[in-house]
Amino acid sequence: MNEEQRKQQAQINQVDNVERIKSASSDDMIAKYFQTSYEQQSPDIKKARKRRNEDVQFHYDFSIPEDVANIGKGKKFLIRTYGCQMNEHDTEVMAGILTEMGYESTSITDEADIILLNTCAIRENAENKVFGEIGHLKPLKLENPDLIIGVCGCMSQEESVVDRILKKHQHIDLIFGTHNIHRLPQLVKEAMFGKEMIVEVWSKEGDVIENLPKVRKGKIKAWVNIMYGCDKFCTYCIVPMTRGKERSRRPEDIIQEVRHLVAQGYQEVTLLGQNVNAYGKDFEDLEYGLGDLMNAIHKIDIPRVRFTTSHPRDFDDRLIEVLAQGGNLLDHIHLPVQSGSSEILKKMNRKYTREEYLELVQKIRKAMPNTTLTTDIIVGFPNETEEQFEETMTLMEEVGFEAAYTYIYSPREGTPAARKKDDIPEEVKKQRLYRLNDLVNKQSAESMKTYDGKTVKVLVEGESKKDPDVLAGYTERNKLVNFKGPKSSIGKIVEVKITEAKTWSLNGIMVESTVEVN
Ligand code: SAH
Ligand code: SF4
Ligand code: F3S
Repeated sequence: MNEEQRKQQAQINQVDNVERIKSASSDDMIAKYFQTSYEQQSPDIKKARKRRNEDVQFHYDFSIPEDVANIGKGKKFLIRTYGCQMNEHDTEVMAGILTEMGYESTSITDEADIILLNTCAIRENAENKVFGEIGHLKPLKLENPDLIIGVCGCMSQEESVVDRILKKHQHIDLIFGTHNIHRLPQLVKEAMFGKEMIVEVWSKEGDVIENLPKVRKGKIKAWVNIMYGCDKFCTYCIVPMTRGKERSRRPEDIIQEVRHLVAQGYQEVTLLGQNVNAYGKDFEDLEYGLGDLMNAIHKIDIPRVRFTTSHPRDFDDRLIEVLAQGGNLLDHIHLPVQSGSSEILKKMNRKYTREEYLELVQKIRKAMPNTTLTTDIIVGFPNETEEQFEETMTLMEEVGFEAAYTYIYSPREGTPAARKKDDIPEEVKKQRLYRLNDLVNKQSAESMKTYDGKTVKVLVEGESKKDPDVLAGYTERNKLVNFKGPKSSIGKIVEVKITEAKTWSLNGIMVESTVEVN
């Protein structure tokens, strides 16, 4: 197709698209549009649950096909991100791909030629937000039929979500899954020139795709994926189905990426995975775990290294020994516990007891006495009793977590827990969450108070959100600090004397002499 034919085809499609959206209220009409030339590949959650020990394929040959290399010239993209750090990092990859296709980024919805919703399926409210946004975008699509709206991320991996979009939201042009990100160039082209909604969601165990372009959100801190997927199958959790099996990137690829970031001036990396402690367990030719990887990164000249998320079950002695070296390996471990009751932990399939978790905490504290521990907790798991909830409260105190992300259990279709009858009223669950949050706030405030009058090292990220005259950054133990200091300190590590401790942040004044030192 030459340029002129392409334009003509696009105009024809435009008219078709408007008709498709307008008529989408009737199921019969929708069926008509399923007679598609493009082979739809919809998700299959049962297939996604299976682990067949397929070999992981590593692909190093990503490139933008020539026929789409300039397809975005003069056009703009916007990606909204709804999920975890891995989801945010996927957004950086998609931004990288679209940029290589000639698109420019925009934050203004009306200006965008392509809008992608990078979704999260972890709880129902995350999904509701996305459906709200899908609804909001309909008038925009009717006004501008050339606009491409895509839904990607973890929700796309769910059959029920894809069915709902196909039935009720025909203004969506494109749905693609977490295993299909590298196919974005081809998919955008299909969406641009095709008439039907494009659905490409692979429910496979997953491969590792290297050398994908990235446009990172910041120039100071960077995410680095070290592994993908999850094989833990906690009974409440959708992630093993949306992200495929655990598969680790090769150490040399990770180390090369970190070195590259150092060369670009990055000050901090966070190593990412749903269960980073399982790193390397899938290598058949190599005895190499997270401890070994951290040890290698410890030697690289990057000031700060973090990692998330740790599963307590796989947290081994080698890792503790390596982390205890300190240096650029920071004193903060996020160690989701989920519940303080061994019975609930068993029902959750977490594979550790309350006692085993406490033993691990003791081991970590012995090797690293200054470590800050934070956690994730779910309240209201099906049939959680008052006593079992109380065990979570006492564990919270016993460990002395300095912060916790707390959630009410949300049933996820396709997970074993969602099939359980649940006798606990929603109101009781809410009350438990409030009680837990009061305790979390109290413990956070107490830990913040210990910093009052002390001097801490802060990696300065920029102006504070509330006041451009105030700078903001994080301490080694991940505490937010707002302080007065020169703009020239942005991107550097400076010393700040704390003058006021709040529940979730600290205020301070920069120690002047430190700005040149770092
Ligand atoms: N891989 C990480 C967690 C990723 S999801 C881990 O295992 O530690 C982040 C958090 O969301 C979980 O730790 C859990 O607390 C919460 N979560 C996951 N599924 C949930 C559900 N169905 N309802 C409520 N919270 C959930
Ligand atoms: Fe979900 Fe459990 Fe895997 Fe974390 S470890 S992603 S909670 S299944
Ligand atoms: Fe959400 Fe998927 Fe992350 S479900 S928490 S975006 S892995």
